[in-house]
Amino acid sequence: KTNDFSVALRAHDLLQKFYHHFLVNTKEGKDALLYLEKRGFTDKEIERFQIGYAPNSSDLATRFFEKRGFNLYELVKSGLLSRRESDGKFYDRFRNRIMFPIWDHQGRTIGFGGRSLSDEEPKYLNSPDTKLFNKGKILYGLHLAKPAIRKKEQVVLFEGYIDVISAWRAGVENGVATLGTSLTEEQARIIRRNAETVVICYDSDHAGINAAYRAQSILTNVGCTVRIAKMPEGYDPDEYILAFGHESFQKNVIDQSMTLMAFKMDYLRKGKNLKNEGELIAYIEEVLKEISMLPGAIERDHYLRQLSEEFSISLDALKSEQYQIYRKLR
Ligand code: GTP
Ligand code: MN
Ligand code: MN
Ligand code: MN
Ligand code: MN
Repeated sequence: KTNDFSVALRAHDLLQKFYHHFLVNTKEGKDALLYLEKRGFTDKEIERFQIGYAPNSSDLATRFFEKRGFNLYELVKSGLLSRRESDGKFYDRFRNRIMFPIWDHQGRTIGFGGRSLSDEEPKYLNSPDTKLFNKGKILYGLHLAKPAIRKKEQVVLFEGYIDVISAWRAGVENGVATLGTSLTEEQARIIRRNAETVVICYDSDHAGINAAYRAQSILTNVGCTVRIAKMPEGYDPDEYILAFGHESFQKNVIDQSMTLMAFKMDYLRKGKNLKNEGELIAYIEEVLKEISMLPGAIERDHYLRQLSEEFSISLDALKSEQYQIYRKLR
C-alpha cells in the first residue's frame, strides 16, 4: 500500500501549501491573519510552522483536488474531505479555520489541526486518525525542535500547538506537544530517545494539573527525569507569554520549574485541610511514601527536613516512619 501512502502524503503537502497561500496572500485570509496578529503571531511563526487558513467555502479544497485528478474517496479516508451520506456529495472538512499542519517526525505533513476563528464549537477540529496519522504516536513539532532538544538535552512538553509556537517565539525552541490527548507510553519513549530531562508545561488549570500528574508517572516509568513548570493559576503557556513576556517565561517558568517531588508535595495537598490532624497525618504518610521511592539518600534527607520544618515534626520521627514505609514497599 506504498502507493496509498504516497498519494495521501502528496495531498497533505498540497493542501498545506494551499491553506498557507490563502492565509498569506489573499483577501479571504485577511481576518485570519488579523486574528493571528492579535494573538501575537508574526510572519516568522507563520512561516516556520506553515500556518494556513481554510476559507469559508464548502468545496474549495474539494474542487482543487478534483481538478488535479485525485480520487476523492481516498481523500475522505485520509481525513481531508468529507462526504455527505444523503446525496454522496464531497465537501471540505475544514472551513473558516486557522490551519496548523501536523507533521510526522521526518517533517512530512500527515494531518491538520484547525482552530475556529470565533469561539464556536468545536474550538479545534483535528484530522481523524488515519493510516498515516496516529495521534498517540506523534509529538507535534518534534522535527523542528530536535536540534534544540539535542543541544539542551531537554524537552519541554506542552498541551497545545499554540503553546509550542508561542514558546518558540519566546526563545524556548525545544518544545513539543501532544495533540489534545493524554500522553501515551509511546510518546514518552520517543521523548526519552531524544533527551533525558522533560519539563512538563501544561495549562495551569485543574485539567492541566491532573494531566501533568498522569504524564509524570508515564515519563518516569520510561526513565525520564521530570520537572514541572509552574505558572499562576488559570494561565496556559501562551497566555503567560502574552501577559508576562518572553524573558519571564524562560526565567521564571522553564528555568525555575519544580522538581518532581516538590510538584507531588503540592499535588497531594490539594483538597486537604492540613489544619485537621487526621488529614495532616494522612498527607505526611503519602509524602513519606513518595520520599521512600527516591533513589538518593541526600534527596530523601532534603525533603524530610523540609517536612520537619514546615509541620514542626521531629526529624527523627519522620525518618523512622519513612524507614517503616520503605521496608513495607520493598
Ligand atoms: P487556544 O484557546 O487557541 O489558546 O488553544 P489552547 O492550546 O490553549 O487550547 P486548549 O488548552 O483548550 O487545548 C489544548 C489542546 O487540546 C489543543 O491544542 C487541541 O489539540 C486540543 N483541543 C482543545 N479543544 C479541542 C476540541 O474542541 N477538539 C479537539 N479535537 N481537540 C481540542
Ligand atoms: Mn510562506
Ligand atoms: Mn487546557
Ligand atoms: Mn490552553
Ligand atoms: Mn491557549
